[in-house]
Amino acid sequence: MTEERLLEILKQCSTPLYLFDEESLHRRVELLRNSLPSSARLCYAVKANPFLAGELSSLVERLESCSPGELRICQRLGLPREKFVISGVYKEPGLMAQLIAQQGPSCLYTVESMAQFALLRQEAVAARKQIPLLLRLTSGNQFGITSQEIEGILEQCRNDPFVELRGIQYFSGTQKTSLKRLKRELNHLDALFQDWEKRWGFLPPELELGPGFPVAYFPEDQFDEAAFLQEVSCLLEHMAYQGPITLELGRSIAASCGTYVTRVVDVKSNATGNYAILDGGIHHVAYGRSGAEDLFHGTEFPLYPPRAEGGCRSV
Ligand SMILES: Cc1ncc(COP(=O)(O)O)c(C=O)c1O
Repeated sequence: MTEERLLEILKQCSTPLYLFDEESLHRRVELLRNSLPSSARLCYAVKANPFLAGELSSLVERLESCSPGELRICQRLGLPREKFVISGVYKEPGLMAQLIAQQGPSCLYTVESMAQFALLRQEAVAARKQIPLLLRLTSGNQFGITSQEIEGILEQCRNDPFVELRGIQYFSGTQKTSLKRLKRELNHLDALFQDWEKRWGFLPPELELGPGFPVAYFPEDQFDEAAFLQEVSCLLEHMAYQGPITLELGRSIAASCGTYVTRVVDVKSNATGNYAILDGGIHHVAYGRSGAEDLFHGTEFPLYPPRAEGGCRSV
């Protein structure tokens, strides 16, 4: 998006607004595909920017939706249900019952707690269907279930006709720049998978991995992405686990194709600094700035992830 084009568009549209460049989005997915192992599949985490779900649907294998709102957007766009990964720490029972009972292809569901497992199974039984599940392994926080709980499910599901254990989902935070940390996490998964295979005869049929790739929202955050992705590919290819891997990506797909445009409507200075008053929200910028330090030091994502994630710039 050139500056001239942007100014041209602004003659027809009022601020604040988002502008998305579909060609950049296509190029972005192509770049990720070319940089990552060819066997890796891509899942778009819709929370990163629900506006892009429609355009991305044909470019990626899956769409991860973690809230009823995101799901509604995907449904309204008529996106194929078999691509949906229904995740989220809270799965509303009525909505789950409705989804599971639907005729036709099934969504894939993550399991984030033992109560969720019981709920999903119960609805599968009620609908007389087999439900495909990804068990979310916790990375040591409030998300997902422990390896012991997963073993409990393995034991319980041995011959359960209503449950299909598709594999493991693992996401341990966003904006992760540390390759050492990624390596540690992949080694941890390898060790667990080997242990489960030995003790339970269960090798996860697939792994859905959210690597939380970093995104340089500001010029000073720039890094050598090509080298970074090459290292990531190498780590993935060297995993002992050789089953299918789907990379669950949000920001690193969405961020570069969007521009957030807001107008400076007033300026003032006082002893505390110089201020520009904008006609749009500042949270997009504030997230990128004040949250960045925490995020880069490996804490989990903010409590309220921004609903729309674009390259943030004010003009
Ligand atoms: C479960 C899950 N998967 C994937 C993502 C996407 O992360 P990112 O935007 O860092 O790629 C998130 C982000 O919060 C998430 O919670």
